[in-house]
Amino acid sequence: MTRQKINLKSKAEIQKMRESGKILAYILNLLSAKIVPGVSGDEIEEIAKKEIKKHNSIPSFLNYKIYKEGIPFPSCVCFSVNDEIVHGFPYGKIIKEGDIVGIDLGVKFEGFHSDSAVTIGAGKIDEKARKLIEVTKNSLYKGIEQVKSGNRSGDIGFAIQNYVEENGLSIVRDLVGHGVGRSVHEAPEVPNYGNKGEGFKLCEGMTFAIEPMVNEKSYNISCDNDQWTIRTVDGKLSAHFEHTVAVVKDGCKILTKL
Ligand code: MF3
Ligand code: CO
Repeated sequence: MTRQKINLKSKAEIQKMRESGKILAYILNLLSAKIVPGVSGDEIEEIAKKEIKKHNSIPSFLNYKIYKEGIPFPSCVCFSVNDEIVHGFPYGKIIKEGDIVGIDLGVKFEGFHSDSAVTIGAGKIDEKARKLIEVTKNSLYKGIEQVKSGNRSGDIGFAIQNYVEENGLSIVRDLVGHGVGRSVHEAPEVPNYGNKGEGFKLCEGMTFAIEPMVNEKSYNISCDNDQWTIRTVDGKLSAHFEHTVAVVKDGCKILTKL
């Protein structure tokens, strides 16, 4: 594996990323409140597009390509329903009572990206969906608690995986968190699984996204023919939460909150 350079950010750069993250948090909050039975993915995409523009920002995901030859991502939001883990498209989807909807959004403001995701239940959801969402959200904060200089990425991964598995759920391995900054995806990779004391050492100025994806049963994934939509192999539910964080002098700063 070739190791890419980690771009450390200055205090002023982290401040810019915080501004980007504030805008993102505001929009993601707005979108979350719209997730009710009957809402369409197209409506959510429209609101996101309008709000990003209103805040003098640029959508990070629209037209993004993972591979040179790949299909560009077609929307501002990733909209992943029920067994879709991440990278679903919003178009043509109508939300029903009991669905769980992952909304993932990235914005670029004054040169700096931020990346965050939530999973929201539409109307009344059943107990297993409620628990899946709660455990996934808590697991993100278990990971965030480990963010301080001197700790290692494996401390983050271990804390997430351990908590998820204690709760009888499984953590996706094939997709990981990532550095965020002038690019939406930068080095390093930040796995949501691992062993304490292993992985790269965290140091002041690092900015990255932690994004646990938690499945009800099997952690294995499959990708649709659209080259983007990632779903559970067994058709069971999956949830996703994500924050962009910075390693700062006295610990960790969550950049993507209000
Ligand atoms: N938060 C997601 C990720 O980091 C969203 C990426 S969508 C993409 O994988 F279009 F940018 F790939
Ligand atoms: Co991300």
